[in-house]
Amino acid sequence: MSQSATAPLALPSKVSGEKPSIGHMEEFSANFARFLMRCNSECGELAEFNMGGQQTVLMSGPEAQEAFLKTLDQKLSRAAAYQATVPVFGKGVIFDAPPDKMKAQLKIQVDALRYQKMKNYSTVISQEVEDWVADWGDEGELDFLDEFLRLTLHTATHCLLGKDFRDQMTEEFRELYHDLEKGLQAIAFVDPYMQQPIFEARDKARARLQELIGGIIAERRANSGVVYGDALETFIAGTYADGSHLTDNEITGLVIATMFAGHHTSSGTATWTLTELARQKEYSADVLQELRALYNEDSEITFESLREIPRLERFIEEVLRLHPPLILLMRRVIEDIDYKGTLIEAGKTVAISTYGSHRNTDYFPDPERFNPNRPEPDTLFAYIPFGGGPHKCAGNAFAMMQLKAIFAALLPRYEFELVDPDETYQDDFSAIVLKPSGPCRLRYKKR
Ligand code: HEM
Repeated sequence: MSQSATAPLALPSKVSGEKPSIGHMEEFSANFARFLMRCNSECGELAEFNMGGQQTVLMSGPEAQEAFLKTLDQKLSRAAAYQATVPVFGKGVIFDAPPDKMKAQLKIQVDALRYQKMKNYSTVISQEVEDWVADWGDEGELDFLDEFLRLTLHTATHCLLGKDFRDQMTEEFRELYHDLEKGLQAIAFVDPYMQQPIFEARDKARARLQELIGGIIAERRANSGVVYGDALETFIAGTYADGSHLTDNEITGLVIATMFAGHHTSSGTATWTLTELARQKEYSADVLQELRALYNEDSEITFESLREIPRLERFIEEVLRLHPPLILLMRRVIEDIDYKGTLIEAGKTVAISTYGSHRNTDYFPDPERFNPNRPEPDTLFAYIPFGGGPHKCAGNAFAMMQLKAIFAALLPRYEFELVDPDETYQDDFSAIVLKPSGPCRLRYKKR
């Protein structure tokens, strides 16, 4: 995308159905994934709509999505689009940090999710899965929406903050985290600082969490030399260009930001993967066969053995095509943009929809059909569950490793069946992160 030239440029086409003052808010809130697909089919590559006063341009198709994802923060700012996260992550953290500090913080966050740390995380996750299934017995029925939220909370606190925290403080953490999540409801995107009980609870939770994490940081600084293998260790060791370390506030912010990026995305995907494994019998039989060939009764699931499980990977990738947890990615336009002769003015929001992109029939024929063997699209930026460009998901490898560890352990031991009629297992569009509508009940039985 280039900066606007002096020649007059066209403006993006406007989506029909705008209402006075609220614009398209009502239709957007009712089912934003479907609304975004309507925008694209009505207006094409660039479609402008009104989100309660905020003009927003949806960019669709691989070329426009590539331009969106590759344009740097100075022109298309995430910070300006995600200001609601500031009181949750903390003052001076990520989207509230000056650009050089934000870059350094993101690098430290990425370092905590690097390959070298993954071995320890995979051991932690496999152990958590074993503890989780230990009292399942031979058969039963569970709401897996709840189950995966709990399991991934345990794996996340364990990998992020270490074993002691996981064992002693997960319950308090769960409550604090819940209050932080409530502080990110839609209203927070209008003004996250208004007088509201949910925002007071958010601020209290944020302060308490910093107290808890500050306590561990102090302990660890006094015991330097001990290896913990968790993400907190990397956050504490990380430095800015001048050699200074992150403050307790900044470290707490990175913990919260990593939790927000990874928790619901992982639990929603795990729930959808299990649901699809239960209903796509033909393909799940292939996956089971593959897992049986890789692991016998007594073999341990290790980091090395998790590296290549191609059929399971393709299955999860197809789950992520149909049910991408982050449907809508947003940026605020800082400088006027000329996109192929159309002007997108500074001050507007631009957005891309992974959900819509994954249903583009040019790249995914018969898009609603679950088919892990469908050919990959011959163009980049059509399949974008993890985004792309400079801010592509930092937890991509972690997320895939965790999903493989879960299903490599579950599938050879149990078979799963839907409890309710097939058509009741639907995407739930009421939250920012996509998940199956609850409850998501499945029956399991030992093989
Ligand atoms: C299936 C699971 C996941 C999906 C589908 C997913 C998807 C995404 C997407 C689409 C983005 C880009 C957002 C944007 O461009 O605005 C992103 C960013 C990010 N994700 Fe994930 N994510 C997943 C799991 C995780 C996990 C488990 C972690 C951490 C443990 C994580 C950490 C991050 C971080 C730190 C970023 C921001 C990167 C940056 O700003 O440079 N994600 N994720």
